[in-house]
Amino acid sequence: MDKLIIEGGVPLRGSVRISGAKNAALPILFGALLHAGKSNISNLPALQDVATTLHLLRNLGIEFDKAGDVVALDASMLNSAKAPYELVRKMRASVLCLGPLLARNGFARVSLPGGCAIGARPIEQHLQGLEAMGAHITLDKGYVRAEAPEGGLQGCRYVFDMVTVGGTENLLMAATLANGTTVLENAAQEPEIVDLARALASMGAQIEGAGTSVITVTGQPRLGPMTHRVMPDRIEAGTYAAAAAITKGDVLLEGAELEHLDAVISKFGRAGVEVRREGDGLRVRHHGELHPVDVETQPFPGFPTDMQAQFMALMCVAEGSSTITEAIFENRFMHVPELNRMGADIKIKGRTAFIRGVEKLNGASVMATDLRASATLVISGLAAEGMTEVRRIYHLDRGYETIEKKLQGLGANVKRVPEDEPGIDTIP
Ligand code: EPZ
Repeated sequence: MDKLIIEGGVPLRGSVRISGAKNAALPILFGALLHAGKSNISNLPALQDVATTLHLLRNLGIEFDKAGDVVALDASMLNSAKAPYELVRKMRASVLCLGPLLARNGFARVSLPGGCAIGARPIEQHLQGLEAMGAHITLDKGYVRAEAPEGGLQGCRYVFDMVTVGGTENLLMAATLANGTTVLENAAQEPEIVDLARALASMGAQIEGAGTSVITVTGQPRLGPMTHRVMPDRIEAGTYAAAAAITKGDVLLEGAELEHLDAVISKFGRAGVEVRREGDGLRVRHHGELHPVDVETQPFPGFPTDMQAQFMALMCVAEGSSTITEAIFENRFMHVPELNRMGADIKIKGRTAFIRGVEKLNGASVMATDLRASATLVISGLAAEGMTEVRRIYHLDRGYETIEKKLQGLGANVKRVPEDEPGIDTIP
């Protein structure tokens, strides 16, 4: 295991290339299961979760060659339809193989993901939707056993009880090979859904309405090869934007797309942080004070829950009090105790964090608990006075490609060292 040692106080300057989006790449890789042949996906980020997904695909019988950010997959032969617990527990997104496997070969056996640090994260919407398409679903020793009816899945109209990104993705993929038309209502509208739909359309899938709350899919007897370039990662972009803002820097986020971050950019603007289009990316610059801004996370196009922790870091040093309400996950404030150890003044009541801005944060030895919480500890360390040590950064490696190299490229004083190297806690 590694940790990051950060010396705060350096304004970030320069440009950083935004990588392919983790939350688009994962469903898109599973989507390649829908074609019994070769597919080609580019702009894949070099992340632990992508490696885990490729490991799972290999377990299913998929062969692939990865060169840089391009992977050539051959899904001609499936020799398993099982997603085992040891892989699913590492990465919940493994449940996204359920819809494609069921549609492709009529059977799937996928471990229930179990909860994770940020919440229980059930998948009943995925299962109810597949049942509405005629699948027979049983739960057996912690596994979902799903079987399609004779003749394959049937198109249907399904209304999600709540907006679910993964649920929309699983059913969208299953519907592409179903008999007849499927209408998904109360569907997630995230840009990653639009990117998945584009990747599926490159295979010949007939999809309308991706990016809106009603998606209509006309099932096809088979799909052809996928050829797709993954969209840029809007959450990575937002994370570096927060790092630029909190250090009073001036950074170009190369490849970031403005329309993927409307709600975030609007809140940054209210906080006094300028974000505008420049070239093929976004320029983020900030000087002066940060104004307090209230936020409530919502499904897209609302403020994304995956940016909640990062925005909180900014509000910790804003000029006044603000509130952040986490309306998507029930336990996504694990970064708060660690931020308070750095001198922040945050109190949690139910799903709302009440933040009183402080003059500055102080460096400390802190521990990462989940992906986005880790990012906020790094952001805070970049602005804090003195040294910060962020431990258990394997959480970071799941979702941020070479984060210390990208930050060093922006002038940050950060290094990655083995966990057991002497830390900064030198106080006897
Ligand atoms: C995706 O998770 C993302 N992961 C998450 O990003 C993101 O936070 C989340 O969408 C919300 O935007 C990937 O895309 C790989 P949901 P997902 O189903 O699909 C409840 C990150 O940091 N729910 O939209 O699992 C659920 O418990 C990760 O990159 C049910 O109750 O999220 C949650 O409270 C973290 N029943 C809410 O809906 C269901 O059947 C939203 O979950 C499904 C979901």
